[in-house]
Amino acid sequence: MPAALGCLFLCFFWVKTRAQTPTYYGQVQPILLANCTPCHRPGGGAPFPVLTCEDATNRASFIAHVTARRYMPPWFADPDFRSFHNQKILTNAEIETLRQWAGGGAPCGIPLGEVAVLQQDFEKNHPAPDQEVPMQQPFTIPGNNTEQFRIFILPTGTKEERYVQGIRFQPGNLELAHHARLMLDTTHLLRSDDGSEAGDTATQFTRLGVRLASQFWNGWVPGNFGEFYPDGFAKKLPANADIVLNMHYSPSPVPATDQSSVKLWFAPKPPERLVKPFILDENWIVNQPFVIPADTVVSFFLRSPPIPTDISLLSVLPHMHLLGKSFKAYALTPDNDVILLIKIDDWNFKWQMTYQFEHLLKLPKGTVVYAEAVYDNTAANPANPHNPPRETTYGWATFNEMMNLIFEYVDYREGDEGLSLFEKF
Ligand code: HEC
Repeated sequence: MPAALGCLFLCFFWVKTRAQTPTYYGQVQPILLANCTPCHRPGGGAPFPVLTCEDATNRASFIAHVTARRYMPPWFADPDFRSFHNQKILTNAEIETLRQWAGGGAPCGIPLGEVAVLQQDFEKNHPAPDQEVPMQQPFTIPGNNTEQFRIFILPTGTKEERYVQGIRFQPGNLELAHHARLMLDTTHLLRSDDGSEAGDTATQFTRLGVRLASQFWNGWVPGNFGEFYPDGFAKKLPANADIVLNMHYSPSPVPATDQSSVKLWFAPKPPERLVKPFILDENWIVNQPFVIPADTVVSFFLRSPPIPTDISLLSVLPHMHLLGKSFKAYALTPDNDVILLIKIDDWNFKWQMTYQFEHLLKLPKGTVVYAEAVYDNTAANPANPHNPPRETTYGWATFNEMMNLIFEYVDYREGDEGLSLFEKF
């Protein structure tokens, strides 16, 4: 190529790429709306909003940095193993767009008019809950810079059995609420535990071994605006049940208060299809005992009993604590078909997410579920709560360990494979 022509070509290319620095309103906002604003908006749980150009421009290089490292958006399940309905993963091209935008001075460009952010507003879609169940009193999070894991008992006081079609956990202190697990108790034996430390051996919760009416009723992390099922689907709320709330608060340098609540939308009549939990816990581990010696990396294998009837899975939630490293689950049908469920290579205790299947996922009668979890109890694990490492076993406290695989399911019906139950936020 003659030099002049080369220059012409290259200079043109240079001018063209310069001219094409992505703008906020042109290319960047759509990426942020799809992947960030469910959390990075007022009330969304993340530390700052990115809804306007000004919000985003001020943090452009930070945004480019955390996305390039894939630290944000938080997503831990391997999409090549299985992709999920609530999956948020940026493509390499999207990461590159954010990088070029930040590197090119983070221009705003021209707004194209009002943007439809409202669809992400759960409150707008589902106005008034039928009942709101608050924590009995505000809780003071101590200003001692330590994470807090607390149990709260929220009596519902409902006279009759109810069916819940919509459920939304409403954190009272969005800056400090990090995750929440809701369970149900009908014995009322846990009421004196209100406000106690999760895992404290003195609590009724730990001592009595109460059989909960539901060991898992709902899970919340930032960005979760609630679950609202289509007509005909609902969860049971037994009469006069207490909601047992297990709260994780981030550390705070100053005292702060929280009074979270649970918003409920009831189905007008008993549902045709009851949404139920299916929980595999440490009892199903095949290589017992569930003990992780100090200075070791250990794998535990869990195997379910054969599933007694055809079921359709809605969601999956693996649960481990700080020593957790990786988690993998799959199912084997009686015909020896392998159904891949979830694979997390880099477990992050802070993000106890509920992974929603894209469509109802059928497990035929006789299917066996297998899971494998790896725990790193060495000093090389930066999350290890003990230094030097200590032998660790089952318990509810953060410094204990757990291995749970929690599903929500309905009994199978013809055609479930095409059904998608969840709204998009
Ligand atoms: C599921 C909710 C959620 C989504 C989706 C999400 N974030 Fe975040 N983000 C958070 C939370 C919560 C934090 C606070 C730090 C933490 O808890 O890990 C945070 C922190 C950040 C930080 C500060 C990091 C630091 O070290 O302080 C940046 C920058 C950020 N997010 C950018 C983004 C961008 C850009 C996207 C989309 C591409 C995004 N986030 C998607 C919840 C989310």
